[in-house]
Amino acid sequence: MYKLFLFFVIAVYSAKANTLGGSERIMGGAYRTDINYVISLQDKRQSQANERGHICGGVLINRQFALTTASCVLENNGQSINITNFRVFAGTVLTNDNANSVRDISSITVHPNYNRQNPLVNNIAVITLQSAFPESIIPLSMPSADVTHPATCETSGFGARNSTATASAQLITLSPVVTMPLELCRLVEPQVQSGVVCASGGGAGCAGDIGNPLVCGTQSSPILCGLLSRSNNCGVIIDGTASATELYTRVFEFAPWVNGVVNSAPGAAATSQLGIALAFMFVVIQNFNFLH
Ligand SMILES: *[C@@H]1O[C@H](CO)[C@@H](O)[C@H](O)[C@H]1NC(C)=O
Ligand SMILES: *[C@@H]1O[C@H](CO)[C@@H](O)[C@H](O)[C@H]1NC(C)=O
Repeated sequence: MYKLFLFFVIAVYSAKANTLGGSERIMGGAYRTDINYVISLQDKRQSQANERGHICGGVLINRQFALTTASCVLENNGQSINITNFRVFAGTVLTNDNANSVRDISSITVHPNYNRQNPLVNNIAVITLQSAFPESIIPLSMPSADVTHPATCETSGFGARNSTATASAQLITLSPVVTMPLELCRLVEPQVQSGVVCASGGGAGCAGDIGNPLVCGTQSSPILCGLLSRSNNCGVIIDGTASATELYTRVFEFAPWVNGVVNSAPGAAATSQLGIALAFMFVVIQNFNFLH
């Protein structure tokens, strides 16, 4: 009964929703060429394969830092993946190798309170890259406001578009993905807590989709709202079945933690110290000129 009710509400939400537009619709999503903040976390040992070693999605929050889920960067034994064996690809919509589109990883910071026994809680990690992507890449900054409900959003990534494939060679955007209030979500997902955004799905959940960003707002001012944490909706657009609820890590909730990781990174600290030193020198020089 609750499920029926939820499907009704979701249907109403979805009917109200418009896609963010500007995209060519294909089965199971749309190929977009105007997005370059989505990353593909890749296993270098398989980077020669068609799938380029893609294991998970994520999002650049500036040109040297990316977010993904904690579940994407932990091995089955709970250890962080060995960063020497992985890389981050971003900046183009085709996974064909391009020297300027891949970066080695300098560190991975998993949320300290993430627990694999309870993967819907604190499921977030920051990837620090060894060097920044070029300025042509426009990251998606950390959100300064929380997601509202219902919001019409979209999710993009290099995950597969059917249950047999393991990745897509081209970036796919699924839309609309419509967010819903937690109280409504709890009717079917009683365990979800405030760190989760629930949405009625656009077909995410195929292999390689975890970590994909949930992006709300408009195409000209996109807002980072979530990271795909769980979904069983692989290919639902293709076969037309009712979609189940998709669960995303609610990025806004983790903004203080993420900003702390970014600001304490060695590069960031050096930059801000340099900035303070330059500002101090500027003030000194100004006063010096004034006094003389
Ligand atoms: C990580 O992988 C590299 C290359 O395969 C290896 O040399 C290194 O020992 C590994 N590090 C750890 C901590 O396992
Ligand atoms: C699944 O996707 C792959 C890669 O896009 C494609 O080559 C394959 O034909 C698809 N399989 C089915 C059953 O649609």
